[in-house]
Amino acid sequence: MTIVSTVPQEKSLLYEQVAERISVMVSQGTFLSGDRLPSVRNLSQQFKVSKSTVMEAYSLLEDRGVVAVRPQSGYYVCQPARNSLQESGVNLPVLRPTVVTTGELALMVFRDAADSRLIQLGAAIPDLENMPVDRLNRMLSTESRRYRQQSLAYEMPAGCLRLRTQIARRMVTAGCSLSPDDIFVTNGCTEAVALALRAVCKQGDTVVLESPTFFNTLQIIASLGLKALEIPAHPALGINPDTLRFVLEQNKVDACLLVTNFSNPLGYLMPDSAKAELVSLLARHDIPLIEDDIYGELAHDTRRPLVAKSFDSAGQVLLCSSFSKTIAPGYRVGWIVPGKFAPQVERLKAVTSLTSAVPPQLAIAEYLDNGGYEAHLRRLRRLYARQIAALSQAVERHFPEGTRCSRPEGGFVLWVEMPETVDSVILYEQAREHGITFAPGPIFSAQPGKFRNYLRLSAASWSDKVAEGVELLGRLAKEAWLKTAR
Ligand SMILES: Cc1ncc(COP(=O)(O)O)c(C=O)c1O
Repeated sequence: MTIVSTVPQEKSLLYEQVAERISVMVSQGTFLSGDRLPSVRNLSQQFKVSKSTVMEAYSLLEDRGVVAVRPQSGYYVCQPARNSLQESGVNLPVLRPTVVTTGELALMVFRDAADSRLIQLGAAIPDLENMPVDRLNRMLSTESRRYRQQSLAYEMPAGCLRLRTQIARRMVTAGCSLSPDDIFVTNGCTEAVALALRAVCKQGDTVVLESPTFFNTLQIIASLGLKALEIPAHPALGINPDTLRFVLEQNKVDACLLVTNFSNPLGYLMPDSAKAELVSLLARHDIPLIEDDIYGELAHDTRRPLVAKSFDSAGQVLLCSSFSKTIAPGYRVGWIVPGKFAPQVERLKAVTSLTSAVPPQLAIAEYLDNGGYEAHLRRLRRLYARQIAALSQAVERHFPEGTRCSRPEGGFVLWVEMPETVDSVILYEQAREHGITFAPGPIFSAQPGKFRNYLRLSAASWSDKVAEGVELLGRLAKEAWLKTAR
């Protein structure tokens, strides 16, 4: 099994960074084998570097066998610079908007995720053993007593001021200077994303997404009558702004929706430079960016990354998040910073649910203020880094030869690519018969049949039972592989 390597963004030399950007465009299919690459002069203007830096970048790529020089003519792609998860060719760009049709399978996976009889290997749900259950329950009770009547009353659509103040304070580390008035509390990140899409799109519109993308986002898109235009995401870097630029030139796009930090399922961390470029590119095209930052607090060993919103001066970014992955998924406390779309979001929140339930907001506000959230996050980050490592090793040990994994830098899900002949939907049915559930690859795309040999596993829990489940799942995958290899 090969592990995807992470490109050192900040420490590499300028020409190496330029080379990396070119090779990402090649690996993502912006330039195909045999294509002529942009001229040295053109790239030096685009990337705002000297011509000699571009020439050094090209000669590095020549050494790596990615480009070839043709005298008097320029530089050409001689083979795609792919990393391990992309070698199978599944990540070639699809430049057509697609209607989402994977609803039934996604619903079944949802139902299974709540079935306690099954060994849960795929659900992106934190193990409640690792959540501050007792402290939070105590705070729910003390805050309900302290705000005796307020806890039973309607709030404004924006939600409790105390919670919004706490969120605004926390977002400083993500690079945002927010006022509590910029924030609206929602029922989880799900409602935040749905409100954002409804605020900026109308039926039939096209939304650009990273591929693979979180399956419920696809279902929200389908439910609103929108179309998904999927851009292949680099396993370590996310979508490339240059690829996005190319897509925007070819399509009418109405919104872009991305998980910039520790995406689900790839776990990549988009570099800050790409976030900045993305925001300015979209602003130039007057296209809103919906940023889902639900995993932003769960960096394994880097600091809490910036959000794309921190580069937004035009109010074009609608930042969505929640406390579902870090404190209490069942409290359904999420939030949105809608930027210039605040009036639309406020109206939509009011007509959808008036406001969110008050007691969970009070409890979370108190927990953020006095509950030791930072220490809790430090524990969680270390735990997820260890559990992701244990899960990756177990996959390496038990899955068929040729299986490859993502290397998430945060969060707790793992994206696994099995040999092409192993069908994850058939495997899903077999695994259920053995009392195991996971998230099969096809639900992470709007394109029928895509990611058929992929699956998402979760390292939210790690125990003997989970380890045995992974071993059994690997054995089933191996049997399927051996059968088709014959
Ligand atoms: C990327 C992403 N966004 C949103 C959600 C849903 O969040 P919430 O439970 O807060 O609605 C999830 C949950 O898995 C997720 O992975």
